[in-house]
Amino acid sequence: MRTPLMAGNWKMHHGPAAAAGLTAEIGAAAGSHPGVNVALFVPFVSLAAAVGAAAGRLRVGAQNAHESKSGAFTGEISCAMLAEICPLVLLGHSERRHLYGESSALIGKKIAAALESSLEIVLCIGETLDERESGATLEVISTQLAAGLESVGGEQISRITIAYEPVWAIGTGRNATPQQAGEACRAVREWLRDGYGDAADLLRVLYGGSVNPTNWAEIAAEPDVDGALVGGASLEAESFIRLIAISAAA
Ligand code: PGA
Repeated sequence: MRTPLMAGNWKMHHGPAAAAGLTAEIGAAAGSHPGVNVALFVPFVSLAAAVGAAAGRLRVGAQNAHESKSGAFTGEISCAMLAEICPLVLLGHSERRHLYGESSALIGKKIAAALESSLEIVLCIGETLDERESGATLEVISTQLAAGLESVGGEQISRITIAYEPVWAIGTGRNATPQQAGEACRAVREWLRDGYGDAADLLRVLYGGSVNPTNWAEIAAEPDVDGALVGGASLEAESFIRLIAISAAA
């Protein structure tokens, strides 16, 4: 019913030359798995190179955007600018929230700005280890969804994908168990169903956090997990292509 999405998040890796080569390699593999959608979130400076190398075989996106259309914001990039070169933007990644102090309210403004442009959005949410251990996971998920999607109406929700990424699993080598990932992604879908009705069944909910070719098959088998947001294992072709193949077989 939902086409899985395997999305790589390169973070601050791969300038234009490396991005072009890796995108072409991943794109060639993506072309042989038409049942899986593939996306790469690349550094701003590598967007044009990656879009060119993708040749339409996969979609390319930015990793952040500013909430205003234009203005005196040195070093920032607006959604309108991004929409001129790529179709996607990643917003609310835990590194933006925790290293750069982005609040859920700010992320909601960025989503509103992205919707005013033609961009589609992957919104990242997820709890810290303290929050999980104190039993607050579902509350955190609901709060982050409510703030992030505050301005998103029923006619726009199809432009949103949610990535559930527990903060304690990102870049740590410690992934959520399939059961933990499945439960959280199911809770996301239930929250979406409460707000958007049956449209929730069409929306993709991804898992992210230390996904690799060894742990992915079991997590991918969870019915509410519709793909992954992958950091480390998307940085070289071999492991990311293996992840795409696992999704195609799931
Ligand atoms: P990781 O990163 O796969 O390296 O844990 C995931 C992410 O940050 O999206």
